[in-house]
This record gives sequence, C-alpha cells and structure tokens, in this order.
Amino acid sequence: MKVNGKPYRTIWLADDGWSVEIIDQTKLPHRFEIECLRSLDDAAHAIRAMLVRGAPLIGATAAYGMALAMRGDSSDAGLDHAHATLMATRPTAVNLRWALDDMRARLQDQPQDSRVGIAYERAAAVCDEDVAICSAIGDHGLAVIQAAFDATPGDGPVNILTHCNAGWLATVDWGTALAPIYKAHELGIPLHVWADETRPRNQGAALTAWELGRHGVSHAVVADNAGGHLMQQGRVDLCITGTDRTAASGDVANKIGTYLKALAAHDNNVPFYVGLPSPTIDWTLSDGVRDIPIEERGADEVTHISGKTAGGDIVAVQLTPDGTPAANPAFDVTPARLVTGLITERGVCAASTAGLAGLFPEFASSN
Ligand code: MRU
Repeated sequence: MKVNGKPYRTIWLADDGWSVEIIDQTKLPHRFEIECLRSLDDAAHAIRAMLVRGAPLIGATAAYGMALAMRGDSSDAGLDHAHATLMATRPTAVNLRWALDDMRARLQDQPQDSRVGIAYERAAAVCDEDVAICSAIGDHGLAVIQAAFDATPGDGPVNILTHCNAGWLATVDWGTALAPIYKAHELGIPLHVWADETRPRNQGAALTAWELGRHGVSHAVVADNAGGHLMQQGRVDLCITGTDRTAASGDVANKIGTYLKALAAHDNNVPFYVGLPSPTIDWTLSDGVRDIPIEERGADEVTHISGKTAGGDIVAVQLTPDGTPAANPAFDVTPARLVTGLITERGVCAASTAGLAGLFPEFASSN
C-alpha cells in the first residue's frame, strides 16, 4: 500500500541488510514515523507496546525478532530464550505462537553458524506468505462484496461495518477484513465503510480511518455503540471483521466489542463475515469461548485517551475521576453460530469444524 505515493509494507529489512524497520503505529494517524529494531528486546518491546499490532503483523515481527536474536546468540539456549521472550509479549493473537514455533522448528536442527541466515530467510518468507494470503482473502471476500452489491437496489453503495483495524497496518500488506474492501474499491464497486472507533485504543478511529482515507475509500468513524442502531436502520449491508485467533470450531476471538456487533448483526439479519488467514486458526482448540486466552491490558488505556490539540501537539488526557479503577479485557470471542462465513485464503467457508476442515484437511486431520 502507498503512503504519500511511496509503496510500503508494515515491516521490512533496512538498507544495512540486518536491522528491521517498522511503522510506529502508536504515532498514527498524526505522525508517520519509522522505527528501527536492532535486537530481540527491540522486537519484543515493539509487540508488547503495540508499535506493531494485528495478529499477522505480530507474527511477522516475531519471526524477524528471532532472526535478530540469532545474531546475538545462536546457541540452543539463545533460541529457547528468544522463543520464550517473544511468546510472553501478547497472549491472544495465535500468529505469534505459529511464527515462533515455525522458526524454532526450522532452526533447532541446523548448525549454529547457519542459523542467522536461515532465520532471516524464513522471516522474509513469512512476510511474503502473509502478503499472498491476505491478497487471496481479498479476492475471495471481493465475491462476497460483489454479491452484496448485486443485491443492493440502485447503484449502491454497499455499506460495510468493520471493527478495530484489520487493514494493511494489521498485516504485512493488504489486510484481512479490509483486503476485500480494497479489491472491491479497485474494481469500482461503490462502498461506504462504517469504522467503529474501537475503544480503548481507538484502532478504528486512528488506523482504519487513516488507511481508508489514504486510499480514497468512502468511510465514517462511528462511536462503538452506534453499530446496532445503524443496522436497525438498514444502513449496514455487511459486517467484516478480522480475528486474532479462531478456534477449530469457528469461534472467533477479535478486538473487544466484536461480539456485540455480531449479536446486533444476528438480530438484524446482517451477514457477519470474518477475514481469516490460516495462521490465525488455532487447531488445538475446539471451544473458543472457553479456551482462547484473553489479554488484559493496563487500566490507563481506559482511563486516558490521547489525541492532537488544536496547536498540533499530541497529548494524553484523563477521562475518569482521579483514582478510578478500570478493567481492560482487550478481546472477546464471538461464537461460531453468529458468524455467517469465514473468508480464508482458500475460499469462504462456514464457521464450523466441518467448514474449516473442508478447506484445510491437512491441519484438521492432525487433531
Ligand atoms: O490489539 P490489536 O490491535 O493487536 O488487535 C487487532 C485486532 O483485534 C484486529 O481487529 C484484527 O481483527 C486482528 S488482526 C487482523
């Protein structure tokens, strides 16, 4: 995707050939700043503090984090330390575990002096694979949007509600939920996107709005509580969200608030789709509501909010009375029964064990 006319991915190897550059997403939408990661600790910090976020990008950063770690210590102990350090950064997005296990499996039987090269090569491949997966999700989701457009009276637009940010910033490129939207926009299908603000960190207001605006996709940010009302009024044709971990049963963990949108969609007969790259499927879990670990983040994300003043300064302000406690569960799980379909890189399937197993028999059968 392009920023000010220049094509960017969200993570790439720097010109020195070994350090890793990322877009610091904590600065968006007001500042576009690039951060350089030079060590395992830099990569772990970038994930933990959400300079990078979104399940696929967390996985890609972890893969490069392993490569950076191998430069410092490519011993077996170094490999285990890097795996454990990165694994502890964020608990819900399963792409983290997927990428770390994949890297360790490829490195552990290799001679120590070859591990750095292999790690960089594989991290680059993880990024390229993510781009291909997200592009394919875009192609399959495009058919869903096209069908919604065909069913729309007149010339549209198709009104799509999304939650949080599952755009190119959440992946290496394209996005998951937003990939079909970009592909439909490229084809000239008229669209309008309702972007939930997504408290407490406002990924919708800050990141989704920034992405869509830069690509000329018609959109409006809405308060998190507005979705149900918009659906009742017939102003939403389709919901598409991303996911941070989807159980083999089709239960979908995503940013807190997604479940409420799925309930409202169900009550109003609005189709609710989820863009799902296969590394986000946790084949070990058969009950997502019970078993997906939900990250609890700091209370300050709820009690405070940051934004740009009229003078252009970025400041954080307190919303709540002094000393007010806050709870901050960062994700929720939408049961499969509320999900119309999963848009994967292999096609669209039912949110069910059979649906996922039909598209990915090689993984499903290993359980
Ligand atoms: O806490 P984040 O910003 O890492 O969470 C990301 C999300 O929940 C996104 O909505 C997304 O659907 C998952 S990543 C494509």
